[in-house]
Amino acid sequence: MEAKETVEVRVVHGGQETILRVEKGANLLLAMTKANLPIDFMCTTGKCTTCRCKMSIPPGSASPASETEVYRLGQQACQEGYRLSCQLYVQGPLTVYL
Ligand code: FES
Repeated sequence: MEAKETVEVRVVHGGQETILRVEKGANLLLAMTKANLPIDFMCTTGKCTTCRCKMSIPPGSASPASETEVYRLGQQACQEGYRLSCQLYVQGPLTVYL
């Protein structure tokens, strides 16, 4: 069986840092909840914005903010690095600040 490609997601939370190895294309919120990280969420469909996090995403490490994210968070917040983790699929290494 072929091994799936994984990427490193660094999660900074409460003065700690956790490194997750997640499969490329994995949903970020799901990856963080599976690892028992303290991420709040409610709808998982991009509506409530509870899962909003500041992130540092190198080019190509995630798809650009979706229409839903831009609508819910506003253009400026998206430009400042805020994303909805339930709407983000990991494509490469990135850092999340909880
Ligand atoms: S959990 Fe509601 S927007 Fe992500």
